[in-house]
Parts: sequence; C-alpha cells; structure tokens
Amino acid sequence: MKTRQLGKDGPDISVIGLGAWPIGGGMGVLDEAVSIATVRASIDSGITLLDTAQAYRTSESTLGKALSDGYRERCFLATKVSRDYSPDAVRSAMDDSLKALNVDYVDLYQVHSWNTEYPIDATMETMARLQEEGKTRYIGISNFNAEEMEQAYGTAPFHGSQPRYNMVDRKIETEDLPYCEQRGIGNLVHSPLGKGLLTGKYSAGHVFPEDDERSRFPRFQGELFTKYCELTGWLSEVAADIGLTMVQLAIAWCLRQKAVSTVLVGAKTPEQAVDYLPAAEAELDAETLKRIDVILEDTPAES
Ligand SMILES: NC(=O)c1ccc[n+]([C@@H]2O[C@H](COP(=O)([O-])OP(=O)(O)OC[C@H]3O[C@@H](n4cnc5c(N)ncnc54)[C@H](OP(=O)(O)O)[C@@H]3O)[C@@H](O)[C@H]2O)c1
Repeated sequence: MKTRQLGKDGPDISVIGLGAWPIGGGMGVLDEAVSIATVRASIDSGITLLDTAQAYRTSESTLGKALSDGYRERCFLATKVSRDYSPDAVRSAMDDSLKALNVDYVDLYQVHSWNTEYPIDATMETMARLQEEGKTRYIGISNFNAEEMEQAYGTAPFHGSQPRYNMVDRKIETEDLPYCEQRGIGNLVHSPLGKGLLTGKYSAGHVFPEDDERSRFPRFQGELFTKYCELTGWLSEVAADIGLTMVQLAIAWCLRQKAVSTVLVGAKTPEQAVDYLPAAEAELDAETLKRIDVILEDTPAES
C-alpha cells in the first residue's frame, strides 16, 4: 500500500484508511464478527490508518476487540472527541476512548466539529496537553473551514484536518485545501463514496432500511436520488473505460489532490475493504479527469 506523509512533518500513513462509522452500526446494524473480520482484512491488506470517534456508537469497542492479537501495533489509530468540547469533557472523552479501544494511547486525536458553544482556544489547549501527556501522538480537527482552522492552529498547531470530500461534495477545493497545503496540514478525507452514492450499485427507487442513516438523507430519496444515480451511471462508464470499478475511481479521484493524505472509506465487509486496493496505485490522466469534470457539471443542486 502506498503511503503519504500526514502534513509537512507527520508520519507516513496509508493512502487508503478504514473509516469505522459503518462498523458502529450507523449505516445499518452489522454483525460484530463481520466487523472484526473487516478491520483485520483491511490491516492485512496494507491499510494502516483506522478512523473512529466517540460518537460512532459501538465502533470504538468493536475496534478494541479487532485490534487484539498484535493488530494494534500495525496501525495508526485515529479517534475523535464529539459534541462536547469543554476541557473536562475532552479529557474524559479521551479516557473513555482509550478504555473502549483497549489501548494506552491513540495516534491521532481529533475535534469532531466546529462548535461556537465552546471557545476553541480552551479546546485546543486541552488537546495539546493530551498530546504532551502521551495520550495521543498527534492532534487534529474535523469539519473546520479555513478560517476556523487558522483560529485553532493559533492555539495548538495540528497535523490533520478531516473534511468531507468526494466527487459531489467539492466545497473544500476553493479555500480549505489550499489553506492546508500552505500550512502543511494533512487531510484525511471522509465520505469519499458519498456514503454509497458513488458506488454505482444503487438505482432510483432503492429504499434504505430504517436503521441506515441514509433513510433520512434527502439525497437518497426521490427525484434527487434519481439524478445522483444517473450521474453515477455516467461516471461508471469512465471507470470501466480505464479498468477500474466506480468505487476505485471515486477513491483515486480524491487522491489526485496532493493535499489529501488519506481517503477514509467505510467498508462493511472484508470484501469491500479489499476491493479498494487498486485505487491506491491508480493514476488518472488529464483526459480522464476532463471527462469526469464535464460529467460533474451536472451534479444536482441541493438546497
Ligand atoms: N468527521 C466526520 O464528520 C465524518 C463524517 C462521515 C464520515 N467520516 C469518516 O469517514 C469514513 C467514511 O465515510 P462513510 O463511511 O460515512 O461513507 P463512505 O465511505 O463514503 O461510504 C461508505 C458506504 O459505502 C458502501 N461501500 C463501502 N465500500 C464499498 C465497496 N467496496 N463496494 C460497494 N459499496 C461499498 C457501504 O454501504 P452499503 O454497502 O450499504 O452501500 C458503506 O457503508 C467514516 O467511516 C468515518 O470514519 C467522518
């Protein structure tokens, strides 16, 4: 598996990472044994980066079980504090995560989102303390824009930003990615498959079960979903022409950005995890990128 450096002076991490939101059950309840097998298949395939969060339901405890038997030492383990970013809450979330994950330290600890209820200086000071204490090797943030990152960086320089990025969610390209490049902050991009929209396997009218978050997302319903399915159909033709699956094309497309250190993909099964591998090696040429851009001009507008 290819690696990239996390930011200007961070560690090398695999260009594909396993996002552990689905194994927490957020996209439909999963069998724990299958989730554990998925984590181990990812690591066995060369993926070193695993990403979870306090808010990912059973994800941390399932990861804790999967990482026994020597798997922990083979990975770069990232988690996040979610929702309450007051100093006391950040500290106790860290301790809860270490306990659930059954580890002494994590490799990257991230603030899950920007929240004006909690002064960012106090949150980032606490993050820096946790780093000094050795509870985490690196710190990062998630879902912050460039201006918010600059505020956080002023208190505690961090190595990783975790934004949403995929073919139909490109907001970060204008300011946030250039900001990260200039600062030397690495990007762990999330939702690269648009939560399944960009897999090419869904067709209009598909109904997601109630325990799957997609049953509540407007882009997975009605006319909007039909338009996204059409778009993915055209993109799948590009993928087939260059010998990739749609999933592999979606990942390789994110990796064309130098500021992207790793693409976090949410596998639910060992087969899905292994399916990603050719994307790490794929190079998309200018003609292919142009074809994709033309298709993406028809990305449906969302309010
Ligand atoms: N920081 C944040 O706020 C934030 C937000 C979202 C995600 N994340 C992180 O980013 C990770 C990835 O995002 P995500 O899991 O939400 O969405 P995603 O990776 O865009 O999509 C995941 C879904 O796509 C389908 N899929 C995955 N691999 C596939 C394959 N090889 N072939 C066909 N279908 C496949 C699976 O669902 P089906 O098979 O059921 O279609 C899976 O649940 C998360 O797990 C999490 O670590 C972070």
